[in-house]
Amino acid sequence: MAELIVALDLPSGSDALALADRLPGLAWAKLGPVLYVQEGPALVREFAARGVRVFLDLKWHDIPTVVAGAVAAARDLGAAMATVHCLGGPEMLAAARTAAGNGDFALVGVTVLTSHDAAGFEQVVGRGVPDLGFEAERLAKVAMQAGLRGVVASGHELGLLRETLGTGPWLVVPGVRLPGDGPGDQRRTIAPRDAVRGGATHLVVGRSITAARDPAAAYQAVREAMES
Ligand code: C5P
Repeated sequence: MAELIVALDLPSGSDALALADRLPGLAWAKLGPVLYVQEGPALVREFAARGVRVFLDLKWHDIPTVVAGAVAAARDLGAAMATVHCLGGPEMLAAARTAAGNGDFALVGVTVLTSHDAAGFEQVVGRGVPDLGFEAERLAKVAMQAGLRGVVASGHELGLLRETLGTGPWLVVPGVRLPGDGPGDQRRTIAPRDAVRGGATHLVVGRSITAARDPAAAYQAVREAMES
């Protein structure tokens, strides 16, 4: 069964903790750069102490030594999962993988940001990109060769990635929207049920829950949609 990760992109740590308290059975909280820069390691420790696994989504992309150091620090801090950019390349990914160790700590690679469309990605890579799915597939293979636990990819690439990677790797899918919710800055969104059916192992849901008029009800709605 796929797991639900709530992306707590909120203004402060106390807002994040207060919201988490309203979500019964919350197993995973995703902390991103905004909250982490504000609150630091204490917030990770606080969630871990409450039995909530922390997905520390800082998307590292730097020279191998620096990324390896960040990964080791995240693991030692008690985070359960962290992200590196596949675009950092095989050497950086291999160093990160070694630093992650062989315990439960999971390292996953970001393929193509779900906020990219083909035109935006073309501007970044400086060549034609006929299909973002193939870019995600190409980058996912680099992550797998480096021994990462899985990749982060949009729901639109799930079929292709499952076919290419087989059943083992984690497929962590952001850009998840309840039917009727606006996409915001996401370009490639997917409904919870479709993500589960497509083979996602983890669904990352932010604003569909955090910006809902009733976040607890939206959280329940996502859980029910995942099970339906
Ligand atoms: O609010 P929303 O559901 O769009 O939030 C998605 C979350 O997933 C954000 O925290 C964003 O940083 C993260 N994310 C993403 N695309 C990726 C990787 C992570 O949107 N490729």
